[in-house]
Amino acid sequence: TPRVFSGIQPSGGLTLGNYLGAIKRFVDMQGPKFATIYCMVDLHAITVWQDPAALRRNTRELCAGFIASGIDPEQSILFNQSQVPEHAQLGWIFNCVARMGWMQRMTQWKDKAGKNQQNASLGLFAYPSLMAADILIYHATHVPVGEDQKQHLELTRDIAIKFNNDFGVDFFPVTEPVIEGAATRVMSLRDGTKKMSKSDPSDMSRINMTDDADAIAQKIRKAKTDPDALPSEIEGLEGRPDARNLVNIYAALADQSVEQVLAEVGGKQFREFKPMLAELAVSKLSPISSEMARLMNDQAEIDRILARGAERARVIAEPILRQTYDIVGMVSSA
Ligand code: TYM
Repeated sequence: TPRVFSGIQPSGGLTLGNYLGAIKRFVDMQGPKFATIYCMVDLHAITVWQDPAALRRNTRELCAGFIASGIDPEQSILFNQSQVPEHAQLGWIFNCVARMGWMQRMTQWKDKAGKNQQNASLGLFAYPSLMAADILIYHATHVPVGEDQKQHLELTRDIAIKFNNDFGVDFFPVTEPVIEGAATRVMSLRDGTKKMSKSDPSDMSRINMTDDADAIAQKIRKAKTDPDALPSEIEGLEGRPDARNLVNIYAALADQSVEQVLAEVGGKQFREFKPMLAELAVSKLSPISSEMARLMNDQAEIDRILARGAERARVIAEPILRQTYDIVGMVSSA
């Protein structure tokens, strides 16, 4: 069975963007067609400084978020990256395969490092190389992500191809990004041209998976819109990023296509549509946040789930690392 891998950074709370663009898709891919492996990428999170207590808490809360959203830790492999050392070990090999110029072109590097690149961590620069290792240490072929990860996945393909060429092998598979659905790019509620992000200074710009019903309703009520009514066809959303964003969110939450949603709400004003969206969002998200809170009451259980997931992950990762070392020419005792 083909393997699916994806990861989320425990660098803050989960947002609606993470849920609709990633976790909800991860749940969809669970089943007989794929072996699914989902990871809390704590080694990626520390490429920018994390408070240790907050990192630990965010990792456990992210695990609770996965489970509360419908990831079954028996069916999927669910773990945190640092408990599977093979990620970092293969990451080092890939640091020696990937080129500086490839990393320099990454838009996420340019955004996150900002003007003062000299002061960014070396880990932040090498971030995409570790990400390629996350995926390829399982020979995963399908990687569900939001739109913003597309460039990193292209780089993962380049690393796999260059490794295979450099050593004359057909060892690492070329991965397929899975970027599908109505919410591959959920935008800020304050500015429909900016991505919804956990690092935005304004909490009103995002819905957090831990927000209560009142907070969700208030954020949607205050969301930026334009003065026109909703169109009944998709073309009518062109040049209206804020309107488009709210319709996309509605479609993704309702498991409908944008066309279906517009057929239903076309002609309505935002003052009618926003309460509909708020009600839908609360009905879908509240059960998840209350289940997260419940799971967070038993941290020992969460830690057991992560440890067990790491054990299962290593069963796959360890032999692939051993074969990689052998291809590269490392002497081993085996
Ligand atoms: P991260 O932690 O920033 O985000 C996790 C996932 O959520 C998606 N996402 C969004 N989707 C739609 N709209 C948004 N506003 C939005 N914000 C975030 C992201 O696309 C992502 O799928 N580099 C990755 C983590 C990673 C990874 C991997 C992913 C590390 N190793 C291997 C896949 C495979 C990241 O920073 O995601």
